[in-house]
Amino acid sequence: MSSADGVTVRLVASEEAPLLVGLIRRCYGETYIDPSFYDQTVVGELLKTGRLHSIGAFAEAGQLVGHMGISMREHTGITADAGMTLVDPAFRGRGIARGVAAGLAQQSVALGLIGVHDYPVTVHAATQRIGAGFGIDTGLMLANMPGDVVFQQMDTPAPGSRTSSLIRWLPFGRAPERSVYLPQRYRAKIEALYADAHLSRIVLQADADPGERRSELGRAYDERRKILRLVIASAGGDLGARVEAEIRAAEDRGGLVAHADLSLAHPATPVATEALRAQGFSFAGLLPEYRGGDVLRMQWLADSVDCAASSVISTDSTREIEAYVSRDRGA
Ligand SMILES: CC(C)(COP(=O)(O)OP(=O)(O)OC[C@H]1O[C@@H](n2cnc3c(N)ncnc32)[C@H](O)[C@@H]1OP(=O)(O)O)[C@@H](O)C(=O)NCCC(=O)NCCS
Repeated sequence: MSSADGVTVRLVASEEAPLLVGLIRRCYGETYIDPSFYDQTVVGELLKTGRLHSIGAFAEAGQLVGHMGISMREHTGITADAGMTLVDPAFRGRGIARGVAAGLAQQSVALGLIGVHDYPVTVHAATQRIGAGFGIDTGLMLANMPGDVVFQQMDTPAPGSRTSSLIRWLPFGRAPERSVYLPQRYRAKIEALYADAHLSRIVLQADADPGERRSELGRAYDERRKILRLVIASAGGDLGARVEAEIRAAEDRGGLVAHADLSLAHPATPVATEALRAQGFSFAGLLPEYRGGDVLRMQWLADSVDCAASSVISTDSTREIEAYVSRDRGA
């Protein structure tokens, strides 16, 4: 892809999985957020099957010193998740992460992606600065990072506390036009985000009565993060009660945070948003083109979760979304 200062940016081959595992260890010790990434066979398989596209920075001796990944979602669409930004502690501060980010943009275009979702941490400002001015901050997931993840050789203001991650939309191509149903209370904010992201959306009138329909929910519990993830496939009058039961079950397993994803293509979403509000959920963010269209993510936090751990925020636009999310949580 490119080469500068003796560092070459190119795709990581599946046989090079051990190099990626080694880099994760140099950056996080044994505390990386996804334990499966310590297994070379698993990583090799992800690379081989194209579920993970790794962009690596290689030093002259062939050592992997920088990395970003594109993770394809289960139902491959026109967007994917970016992340796994890593630079060997001995090679930091030389623009390697920025070089790898340029490689990620190139690879995204080559894969036909019109954009990726990135989740910069707020433990430090480095990854926020990499995409600043290009990406659009569309949300903030409060306390989604456990306190025991150790960022080797990084200054972190509140070691040991759970910390928040941004939701950032990095556009690489033209998104399709869509019709959306927006909850009234978030309409102005979401429309402003659409305008910032140059996304063309027609707002339709929502369905006010969920009636007797039964809700359909997808669920996954992330033991490492202690996060329950709900996908509201269809929302009916029983949504509040169903979500409450899911949260109680997650709490019994130690769950501290819940996310609920609502499709903005569904006319019941505005009513469902209010049902979630009544269960203590608030705005986490907008995920454009996340799941066959745009998604509104709502978040819930257990009373025991301390959200006051200081976040390092790098730009005004990031501060703006942080303020919006906090206001909505307090409202
Ligand atoms: C974050 C990380 C990838 C940065 O790699 P890097 O190659 O040193 O970064 P670059 O030299 O390309 O710098 C990119 C930007 O980050 C800033 N930056 C780098 N290290 C920083 C730090 N410790 N604190 C604050 N900003 C930092 C740089 O100043 C630069 O921004 P600028 O051009 O606006 O000044 C690296 O420090 C790392 O691997 N950290 C541990 C793992 C991690 O935190 N990953 C990110 C998870 S989202």
